[in-house]
Amino acid sequence: MDFELSQDHKVLQSAVRDFVQKEIKPIAMKIDEDHAIPDELVRKMGEMGLLGSYFPEEYGGAGLDMLSYVIVVEEVSKACGSSGVLISAHTSLCSGPIYTFGTEDQKKKWLPALNTGEIIGCFLLTEPEAGSDAGAIATTYRREGDEFVINGSKIFITNGGYKGTGVLFASHDRSLKHKGISAFIVDLNSPGVEILKNEKKMGIRGSYTTAFAFDSVRVPVENLLGQEGQGFKIAMDTLNGGRIGIASQALGIAEGAFDLALAYSKERKQFGHPICELQAIQFKLADMYARIETSKLMTYKAACLKDAKKSYTMESAMCKMLASEAANFVTKEAIQIHGGYGFICDYEVERMYRDAKITEIYEGTNEVQRVVISKLLLS
Ligand code: CAA
Repeated sequence: MDFELSQDHKVLQSAVRDFVQKEIKPIAMKIDEDHAIPDELVRKMGEMGLLGSYFPEEYGGAGLDMLSYVIVVEEVSKACGSSGVLISAHTSLCSGPIYTFGTEDQKKKWLPALNTGEIIGCFLLTEPEAGSDAGAIATTYRREGDEFVINGSKIFITNGGYKGTGVLFASHDRSLKHKGISAFIVDLNSPGVEILKNEKKMGIRGSYTTAFAFDSVRVPVENLLGQEGQGFKIAMDTLNGGRIGIASQALGIAEGAFDLALAYSKERKQFGHPICELQAIQFKLADMYARIETSKLMTYKAACLKDAKKSYTMESAMCKMLASEAANFVTKEAIQIHGGYGFICDYEVERMYRDAKITEIYEGTNEVQRVVISKLLLS
């Protein structure tokens, strides 16, 4: 067992760190204030290969592995949780299933533009009555000649506002529950696709969270992803990978907040000494760091298992659960260490605290992660 990153992974980490320091950190507060990530930054992330890290070069990807992807999302999220989830949802939830379940023609058609960031991808599963109960989706499809016709609505779609490419789930017979669901690759500029709204949120404000209506949207039969009736399996498999992405985002947010709290504790003087000399602060730093390292180990393990093509369902649920809970703990303690200043919007920990909350919710609440873990333990 080797806990060291390889030389290649270290080089990547250092390159992404430089990119983040130059391009993302200086505008992270503005991204939050504007509720928008500048298109120019999305373009630069694409150029840098951050939007297609683990896909082969023949499909426009960077040809790296899952652990590299984790490092990318982690490093970006240290500075900006919104940019971290843009990468994570785009890569794991849209390009990921197309790469895993797509035909050769589908991969050649859709992946190059996604991997270079020319088009931003999203994952259209959640509906008003189908959140944790993903098998209950009410969006329908029917076949008409060489097309599928889709009707329904989707909510909480990360990256939806880009109106790029989506992997959409719909049912042709709701009485079949999971087995009636199929997955489709949908161009979100198709007639009948309407953005109802982009949500205003507590955190990750630069990231789009979009509600859509689909009114008789026609999708060519060649856009069916996998087999008819395989959609739920595709969704679950995709979320297994996606949860590693959210764990990486949460890990990055926690590390970003920890770094700021550690530095502040050395600068801030009270009672004539830097506050890091107080044991109350030292214990907080120790608790924060231990939770970060535990989450990191599990997140990296899940990624390595995926790279080794071994089962990683349990580890992906565990890393998502551990890292998101660590992010919430660490950002809260980071504010506490900053005292009153931590509550002021000029201090980055205030944003990080708000950004951390969603990591316990999306891609399956942590209650869902506990369902996944306990089902596997008992099976
Ligand atoms: N991996 C692989 N297969 C899985 C699986 C997993 N994690 N979870 C379930 N399955 C399989 C089961 O093995 C079963 O297969 P068989 O039919 O062959 O037996 C099938 O799926 C049905 O399983 P269940 O009966 O357990 O299904 P369920 O309806 O009880 O639901 C659930 C289980 C774990 C709660 C699942 O519905 C779930 O994961 N819900 C959460 C959905 C979710 O994460 N939504 C997030 C939306 S996307 C998002 O948030 C993205 C973003 O914005 C960034």
